[in-house]
Amino acid sequence: MMGRGAGGGRGASSGSGADASIGGVAPAVDGGEAVAPAVAPAVAPAVEFVGVSFAYPDGTQALDGVNLRIEPGERVAIVGQNGSGKSTLVRHLNGLLRPTAGRVLLDGRDIRDVHVAKLAALVGLAFQNPDRQLFGGRVAAELEFGPRNLGVRGSELAECVKSALAAVGLQDEAETNPYDMGYSRRKLLAIASVLAMRTPILILDEPTTGQDARGVARVRGVVRATVAAGRTAIAVSHDMRFVAECFGRVVVMRGGRVVLDGTPGEVFAERHWSELQAAHLEPPLPAVVGARLGLGSTPTDAALVERLKSNA
Ligand SMILES: Nc1ncnc2c1ncn2[C@@H]1O[C@H](COP(=O)(O)OP(=O)(O)OP(=O)(O)O)[C@@H](O)[C@H]1O
Ligand SMILES: [Mg+2]
Repeated sequence: MMGRGAGGGRGASSGSGADASIGGVAPAVDGGEAVAPAVAPAVAPAVEFVGVSFAYPDGTQALDGVNLRIEPGERVAIVGQNGSGKSTLVRHLNGLLRPTAGRVLLDGRDIRDVHVAKLAALVGLAFQNPDRQLFGGRVAAELEFGPRNLGVRGSELAECVKSALAAVGLQDEAETNPYDMGYSRRKLLAIASVLAMRTPILILDEPTTGQDARGVARVRGVVRATVAAGRTAIAVSHDMRFVAECFGRVVVMRGGRVVLDGTPGEVFAERHWSELQAAHLEPPLPAVVGARLGLGSTPTDAALVERLKSNA
């Protein structure tokens, strides 16, 4: 199936024609040495889907005319019921899938014209299923793979690995075999392996699946740090609380289309509850309680407690 050799978002080992016009990143050249520090991107490129439709080879129409623009440094959650096309959508961003119709643009440039090595330096995608991304061996080797393919070496490579492991709380696991780790930690490892590439666009497909509260907090920290560094964070998620608390924008998909797009306050507002229900989504509990108490759809815990106390 989809191994990293198939362009799993973890970098390609060769590149050609340096084109620094997108995101200010120079790709690695053939032979592996970078022509410029490949993991010190300046600004994330804007992402744009223009009328993107996609059908799998068996005829399944997974995307149906998606129009969506994501600005540099945005924090965007993509939500929707199973099979609504979320993973298919984000797989277009690292070139793993190509639209059947329409275009995917980075800074206005069709992704088709961006060399695979350059794309790997710009867009990091942590797969929904970590086992499609990990290949065993040692944790440290997993993490070195991506940045090494971008031409990073020596102490810079060691630093990429160390900081990515620390970001997900796996700093003591460098010598562990990933398959001796449980699912939730393999999932964090897959996220770390993408983080290590320091791509200006970070995409996490269902990052909180299987995570306990500490794991979710780590993922939250990853998203916050990414955006604080001026990079773009995109996550696909079924966890509405994580979405409401951690993202500035929520995109709701249904049947391969974008049906709602706004801030969590807008998307989880009462007037959209029937649309959310149609997409098999439930607004997070604070949104429901907040709306009932007249506090809006993104009340803070403190505001809720205060109002409930005063009503008691
Ligand atoms: N490799 C594939 N071949 C054929 N159809 C596929 C393939 N991958 C996904 N699909 C189908 O495409 C549609 C969209 O799938 P996709 O995985 O993008 O949805 P999703 O929103 O990510 O769902 P989930 O929440 O379950 O992860 C679904 O009907 C799915 O069954
Ligand atoms: Mg999916």
